[in-house]
Amino acid sequence: MVQWYSWFVSFTAALGGFLFGYEIGIINSVLEMDQFRVFFGMSDLGSDMTTLTDTASAKDYKAQITSFFLLGCIPGALFIAVAADYLGRKKSIWLGSLLFSVGALIQALVAAESVPARVHTIMAGRFIGGSGVGILSMSVPLYIAEMAPTDMRGRLTSVQQLMITIGIAVASIINAIIIGAFDGAPKDDNKPWRLALGIQAGPGFLLFLMLFFLPESPRWLMFRDREAEALTNLAKLRQSAESSPAVQEEYQEYKDSIEAERQIGTASWSELRRPGIFNRLVLGVVLQFFQQWTGINAVMYYSSSLFIGMGIPKATATTVNVVVQALVNVLFTLPGMYLIERAGRKKLLVWGGLGMAAFMWGLVLFVNLFASNLPVAVADIKEGMEIPGNAKTFSILAAICMYCYVACFASTWGPVVWVYQSEIFPLRIRGKGTGIATASNWINNFILSYVWPYAEALGANQYIVFGTTGLAMAAFVQFFVPETKGKSLEHMDEVFGFTSNEAADLKA
Ligand code: GLC
Repeated sequence: MVQWYSWFVSFTAALGGFLFGYEIGIINSVLEMDQFRVFFGMSDLGSDMTTLTDTASAKDYKAQITSFFLLGCIPGALFIAVAADYLGRKKSIWLGSLLFSVGALIQALVAAESVPARVHTIMAGRFIGGSGVGILSMSVPLYIAEMAPTDMRGRLTSVQQLMITIGIAVASIINAIIIGAFDGAPKDDNKPWRLALGIQAGPGFLLFLMLFFLPESPRWLMFRDREAEALTNLAKLRQSAESSPAVQEEYQEYKDSIEAERQIGTASWSELRRPGIFNRLVLGVVLQFFQQWTGINAVMYYSSSLFIGMGIPKATATTVNVVVQALVNVLFTLPGMYLIERAGRKKLLVWGGLGMAAFMWGLVLFVNLFASNLPVAVADIKEGMEIPGNAKTFSILAAICMYCYVACFASTWGPVVWVYQSEIFPLRIRGKGTGIATASNWINNFILSYVWPYAEALGANQYIVFGTTGLAMAAFVQFFVPETKGKSLEHMDEVFGFTSNEAADLKA
């Protein structure tokens, strides 16, 4: 019963993850839709109303439209770092879902006359929607971690990542459906992209409404001195009576821990610099940095072009590859959710880093072997060209490495980093600490999405970067990351060497 209710709360809150995933999954396909390109001045429509040519501003518009979403995520995460401790976890998620939905509607309904005004309106919509995702990506896992029973915390918090992957997969499927349904539609028919972008406001508002049925985090309520409500919500979450010994024991643990924290004084930003706290901030920021530098988004955004380079027809490379990759990503998050409470966080991160490195190096090797077995340069491959048998074999091996790499990410670094950052900080600065770590995720995502297209000229050799970061990640975790599995949030100070002596020093 407890389990059922905890899963329900987690899946409902993790609709926030679904929104995050859908948005990052849909935009690349939307940017390729002819009607979208015409409307936003990226392509000119020929006089026969069917031929398209790219405009001089196409590249700039594309970069601006893509990046404004990621740019919005950064202030969203930083704002909520400050606000989450005042607003509470539920109101933070509310705010995130509202901004997200409004941003989605602005994008879907752009109606300005001139092309620059259209581009600016959609950029504004993307910035607003992005700030919503910045807020959600921090507050959803934090909320789940705070309400979960200790022995299920890793698993339940991973539901957020599972929903991100489901969001990405649904986006790739919806994209294929819309493309099919509007096949041959006139180039000035704006329904396909308006639909693809607007549809996401639905789950956004659904999350907004469902929050009315979810209990506020009892730990946060205690922190705000709302003890009676905290006890009621804790009992509800554990599906037991308020007077039951287990609920009373847990309640008492929160209370003791908060009293101990009060002894230290009110939280301030400068506290993040204290020993025993600063190490956690560095871990949160570095793990998020590494999570992005696993290269997962570069692989997801750009891998189709790698397959096109291997002579696989463009239609297959762009639709089938994206859907298969997205499904691998969803399916392999499940073993991660199982293992996070068994093997623990640390082992998953170390093995994940090593595994991803191995498959990235494999990918680089096989793509190079593929190229050296071709009669022409990779850039000169034409669709329908006869590819020699051994080159074909190497391209299949390269594809296998790519999917294995995604599987490795999905069951390790994908979920574990979001879980880890939401469990390591003490309550009084949990909002600030997780907010900064989340901003690190979005800043690195933004940097990579900006520089990566330029690395495309290197072909498969660009992936050497990620093969190398995989090894660095594994070594970093092995030496610096403590295990948190099975520890209640109230016992994290012990894990990170924050002793009562240091607490006394802080007070002084
Ligand atoms: C993680 C990453 C995100 C990525 C996703 C892919 O949530 O933070 O950037 O797109 O995994 O599954």
